[in-house]
Amino acid sequence: MSAQHTIPGNTPDQHESFTPHPEDPVRRRLLLATAVVGGGGLIATAVPFVDSLTPSARALAEGGPVEADISQIGPGELKVIEWRKQPIWLLRRTPEMLASLKTDEGLLSDPLSEKSIQPESCANIYRSQKPGLAVMIGICTHLGCSPVLKPAGEAAGLGADWPGGFLCPCHGSKFDLAGRVFRGVPAPTNLPVPVYEYLSDSVIRVGEKVA
Ligand code: FES
Repeated sequence: MSAQHTIPGNTPDQHESFTPHPEDPVRRRLLLATAVVGGGGLIATAVPFVDSLTPSARALAEGGPVEADISQIGPGELKVIEWRKQPIWLLRRTPEMLASLKTDEGLLSDPLSEKSIQPESCANIYRSQKPGLAVMIGICTHLGCSPVLKPAGEAAGLGADWPGGFLCPCHGSKFDLAGRVFRGVPAPTNLPVPVYEYLSDSVIRVGEKVA
């Protein structure tokens, strides 16, 4: 698939709001567009339209998987690709970043991700298949803004003991470098982790396999 593009780190246009729940966005947009244009009577026709497509056309309409080259992501760098109109973060974590995930657990709301969304293969403290690469949906679980990467240290403006993570510019929710939400912020859960797989050491595929 060719939906991949690179954004070197978070950019201002990532601050725009995204729909907070990532599931099935194409169908939801279709429903919303239909409601705006034609009123409630047309909504009933929208879902059958998608469902009536051939399997390959339906996969395309609903947002099939995308592949990403991860070979050029340097230590500590964040690459952003798009899948189902959502920003997908690919973060190359350094050993120091990984170490922070073991020391910040006491600050987190759901350190074991028991109330959060991730595939079984990522049900670990790194929330990833391989510790060095984090793959997350970059949409705040509060109201859908896109958080910004804030490296560890005082320069981030979050205090000298800030371990590194992400700050949501809308209402201040904070997430660590595995997308786990800090306590005392509006966001209720960790950032979701999408289904993904390694096609090789340098390429991953994000999203479900399609026929
Ligand atoms: S949308 Fe992120 S804190 Fe509200």
